[in-house]
Amino acid sequence: MEKPVNDIVLRVEHLKKYYPVSGGFLSRGNKFVKAVDDVSFQIRRGETFGLVGESGCGKSTLGKALIRLHEPTSGEVWLNGVNIAALSNRDFAPYRRQIQIVFQDPSASLNPRHTIEAILAEPFIVHGLYKNDRAQMKKEVERLMELVGLDSYMLNKYPHELSGGQKQRVGIARTLALKPDLIVQDEPVSALDVSIQAQIINLMVDLQKELGLSYLFISHNLNVVYQISDNVGVMYLGRMMEITPYQGLYKNPAHPYTKALLSAIPQPECQGESHRIILEGDIPSPVNPPAGCRFHTRCRECMECCRRKEPQLKEIAPGHFVACHLYD
Ligand SMILES: Nc1ncnc2c1ncn2[C@@H]1O[C@H](COP(=O)(O)OP(=O)(O)O)[C@@H](O)[C@H]1O
Ligand SMILES: [Mg+2]
Repeated sequence: MEKPVNDIVLRVEHLKKYYPVSGGFLSRGNKFVKAVDDVSFQIRRGETFGLVGESGCGKSTLGKALIRLHEPTSGEVWLNGVNIAALSNRDFAPYRRQIQIVFQDPSASLNPRHTIEAILAEPFIVHGLYKNDRAQMKKEVERLMELVGLDSYMLNKYPHELSGGQKQRVGIARTLALKPDLIVQDEPVSALDVSIQAQIINLMVDLQKELGLSYLFISHNLNVVYQISDNVGVMYLGRMMEITPYQGLYKNPAHPYTKALLSAIPQPECQGESHRIILEGDIPSPVNPPAGCRFHTRCRECMECCRRKEPQLKEIAPGHFVACHLYD
């Protein structure tokens, strides 16, 4: 049975983001980096959708195109039932608060010249909230600090006086200021020590439960994605190759690319020798992706039709989609 529409926070349909290639003097014609090339998926309310894939496959571009940090080239982005990709900038403004983003490097995303208090007050000021009530704004800022487990004495500090984990907590607190429905987490723990990674992930899980948030959690690290996700999407060269409930990721991966990614994860010795699939060759250029299945140049199970015909995502088990001719 179909779930009711309001259960879906985000539905992405055929999203594309092409960047024009800035030409050197030898370049001719219009060339594009097809960073995101026809991607569709959805996120349920309260769910974490994990997005994995090798570096350069278009994960960050997908995140940025969703929140219109980079304008999508085409496609639909339905946020709470509204296609925000079709709105003018002005009409989009009120929806901006519903969808926020956390970046990988907390140092780069926090203004070094502002105190933590100023950084956390900024979303309220930008949106004209608590204009005539500084005391209430201060209370809200303190509430944000409490939510992410930071002591309010840090409000007068500057970002460089905080540790990496504390800075990322501030980054998360800032996204919570406007009570969003969906947060795009773009490699939020990749720059942190492993021990701190676990703390930040636990914090995100707690906040999700407490505030009913939905996450698009982007990472190149399958283990991290597995820990936190309800569903996982695997991207390759701008396309979604597989979408699976997280339990299926290790138990029955279907796409040869997913299998190769999984086999590249180092296994603890006690688990014995595992069968490693080496991905041969470099990732092809997203300017000229291979015809047919774009993974066929590196696929060990490549068949004749894979060179000609682009496979579409098909549901091979409930909630498990794969774009591969092996499942035709
Ligand atoms: N602003 C940009 N202009 C041109 N090309 C870009 C831009 N941002 C990303 N790209 C290209 O788009 C592709 C996808 O990049 P990205 O989304 O950052 O991948 P990922 O986050 O998976 O590592 C890469 O080939 C990258 O070089
Ligand atoms: Mg990225």
